[in-house]
Amino acid sequence: MDTVVSGIRPTGNLHLGNYFGAVRAFTQMQNEYNCFFFIADWHSLTTHPHPDNIIRSTNTILAEYLACGIDPEKATIYIQSDVREVVELYLYLNMNAYLGELERTTSFKEKARQQPNNVNAGLLTYPTLMAADILMHKAVKVPVGKDQEQNMEMARKFARRFNTIYGVDFFVEPQSYALGDRALKVPGLDGSGKMGKSEGNAIYLIDDAKTITKKVMRAVTDAGPTEPNSPRPEPITNLFTLMEIVSSPEVYKHFSDSYNDCSIRYGDMKKQLAEDICSFSAPIRERILELNSDEAYLRQVAKLGAEKARESASKTLEEVRQIIGFRHR
Ligand code: TYM
Repeated sequence: MDTVVSGIRPTGNLHLGNYFGAVRAFTQMQNEYNCFFFIADWHSLTTHPHPDNIIRSTNTILAEYLACGIDPEKATIYIQSDVREVVELYLYLNMNAYLGELERTTSFKEKARQQPNNVNAGLLTYPTLMAADILMHKAVKVPVGKDQEQNMEMARKFARRFNTIYGVDFFVEPQSYALGDRALKVPGLDGSGKMGKSEGNAIYLIDDAKTITKKVMRAVTDAGPTEPNSPRPEPITNLFTLMEIVSSPEVYKHFSDSYNDCSIRYGDMKKQLAEDICSFSAPIRERILELNSDEAYLRQVAKLGAEKARESASKTLEEVRQIIGFRHR
């Protein structure tokens, strides 16, 4: 059975981008693959979060994973920092990762711009830590959103390079995976760009109906099309993209046709979109609220997951040590 790995940083609540870009695929893949889904708490340290926030956010993501339907009986769910083997592999991979290529990654350049007073080595080597997460379990498929494509390319490069340097056929080159074979970029509704926590434009799975409706009704639009079949400016395209993801094909077609014949009323479209988001997220929200208060269960899930993940990780690591010449153990 092929192995699947993916993770999410504990930087707040899960939003629609995380769900449709990644978590929805997790819930389907767990039925067919040997899955490892984790909470990337080491990765979140690049921004120096307060310890209380890390603990809170890690529990939050754990509860939200479960609420979305990831099943600890089917998939291994763990917290990255519980599997210290990953750090050792990270070290080995860093020896074969070059400054130039790390500096050239778009996400490093972006982060360096966003936090000019904290351009730390962890930011620079973010892709090697991510590669360690993936290669640790020899994953073949990695369900991620479009924004992770460059990191995935790096992971493949590091796998290939390790094999070449040591003349082995050890690491598999992991491929990104998306439901429907198309990596998703879930847009925000503030006119441009993707939905994200740091973008401040996220609709969260935990948001109640009132909050969701308020966020959707505030979506940026324009005066409306003046000619039939006119091109859609970015904010309008984003509204349609979100509707295509969340609503039924019939609903999407109805509003798309009404845009094309200039009869669209954005207020109606937003109302429909808000309703559709609420009806999909309400049951998840309820489960999150239940699970949030069951700390004992969350701890038990994390403990079981850590054991299973460490078993897989230590097996890979033992082989890596042999390959690189640490044969004395
Ligand atoms: P993170 O925490 O930023 O995001 C988690 C997942 O959500 C997806 N995502 C989106 N997809 C579509 N549209 C959006 N607007 C959107 N926003 C977020 C991301 O693509 C991602 O799949 N580096 C990773 C965490 C990580 C990881 C790994 C992932 C660490 N190690 C190993 C996979 C395998 C990250 O920062 O994701």
